[in-house]
Amino acid sequence: MLSSQIISYLRTERTPLYLYDMDLLRRTLQSATAASAQYGYKVHYALKANFDPVIVDCIREYGFGTDCVSGNEVRYSIECGFDPSQVVYAGVGKTDEEIEFAVRQGIFAFNCESRQELQVINHIAGQVGTVANVALRLNPDVDPMTHTHISTGQADSKFGISYKEIDQLAAETGTLNNIRITGIHFHIGSQITEMRVFEYLCRRVNTLYEWFTDRGYELSHVNLGGGLGIDYDDPDNNPVPAFGEYFDIFARNLRVGSATEIHFELGRSLVGQCGEFISRVLFTKVNSAGKNVALLDGSMTELIRPALYQARHAIENLDGSGRPQAEYTIGGTVCESSDTFARNLSLPELQRGDLVSIKTAGAYGAAMASRYNMHDLPRAVYWEGE
Ligand code: LLP
Repeated sequence: MLSSQIISYLRTERTPLYLYDMDLLRRTLQSATAASAQYGYKVHYALKANFDPVIVDCIREYGFGTDCVSGNEVRYSIECGFDPSQVVYAGVGKTDEEIEFAVRQGIFAFNCESRQELQVINHIAGQVGTVANVALRLNPDVDPMTHTHISTGQADSKFGISYKEIDQLAAETGTLNNIRITGIHFHIGSQITEMRVFEYLCRRVNTLYEWFTDRGYELSHVNLGGGLGIDYDDPDNNPVPAFGEYFDIFARNLRVGSATEIHFELGRSLVGQCGEFISRVLFTKVNSAGKNVALLDGSMTELIRPALYQARHAIENLDGSGRPQAEYTIGGTVCESSDTFARNLSLPELQRGDLVSIKTAGAYGAAMASRYNMHDLPRAVYWEGE
């Protein structure tokens, strides 16, 4: 819930913009740090969720590493002051140039997605004259019970190495002298709210971990990826995700040796709730079906989640106090029907010029913005709390 002070401030600002509550971000990071430290778990921030430099700088101060999915993300992490030993590189398709760059940085680990990629990393590391640390991203075939577009850990997916190939893989790794298998990696999907999914994941991980240790691999780490879901329906009452419950599940269910570190790659849960997308009502009208339509000056070019995943975000009329409720279709400026933030949404009556907040937009909001329709990229405003 935004204070009247911040709303007055927003009235003076050009929209659309992303508003970040830095106090909430710090409380979230604090909570994640405390909950993970209890078990000695290491957390990498999945940079793809939001690479805003102010946000990233704050995350670095709490001691997180980064999880990168491109050479540019690896470079950016290092430019932002993360130590290469805190950086993991997990892209499903890495180019030779990106691999060489990351090899030269001496990152903590490549999360390798195929046998062929393993050969290429080995070859490039050999050319550079070094040995690269690699964690094998295994596809555990676990249903994350989330939107299909953000499910990554099922058998029929482009991600990870099939568990059916691990015999062959083990036979091959012995001949690759420029890589060191230091870990195994998993990431089954995002916005996971069914916590038992993480229990199922642990069971698969335990079996695969045992398979590797039985064959003499000394795994220095197991990386469980990210995926912890957040509350899009009621963000005001659940601003900080259940990190305690999340890490407890792994502590209770994982069976790995005490010399093996446990790593995570959290994105959404660290930054999702601290960001709101703020725009203004440009026009209101009634369509031929008799429904109220409100058109915002923001669109899918700044926040694509509703268009891409049919995602529902809580929406608030920041100027609606005391007005009667009405039902709206809330649209953006782009000439595509998918550019609709909500349908049949009951809100205090909207008028031209009203400020509208679309909540829980700190993750995969600004980071996924595009210049479609030659729109400007969205601005950011940082709020330090009351
Ligand atoms: N690790 C890997 C290998 C990943 O692919 C991802 C996210 C993460 C970690 C972080 O997952 P998180 O903790 O944020 O769930 N754009 C979509 C989400 C895509 C997630 C892609 N991978 C959305 O807006 O819902």
